[in-house]
Amino acid sequence: MEQDVTLCKVEEIPDGALKHFEIMGYDVMVVRLGDHFYCVDEACTYKWAMLTDGHVDRERVAVVCKDCNGAWDLRTGQPKDLPAKFPLNVYRIETVGDDVIVTFTY
Ligand code: FES
Repeated sequence: MEQDVTLCKVEEIPDGALKHFEIMGYDVMVVRLGDHFYCVDEACTYKWAMLTDGHVDRERVAVVCKDCNGAWDLRTGQPKDLPAKFPLNVYRIETVGDDVIVTFTY
């Protein structure tokens, strides 16, 4: 099933920020890079660390874990650097006017 969820206003997510949201009990993370927004699972698939504690690698459009430097592509959810091995779920995200809207699949 999928459902459109309005998360926040565009200006609530500064450029380069990683921000946590809970949707129906699931933890997701929104990242903004310029005018592009990405939404993936917040928990890493290695040791379930919170990736909002990590940082963004702008050049590679990736999130990097602060504990182990594992990295995932924010566009595809695919692992880029070990020990990340399994993909993150990726959710469709768009802006409509000032709203940031995620299509959450579950
Ligand atoms: S602990 Fe999960 S990727 Fe580092």
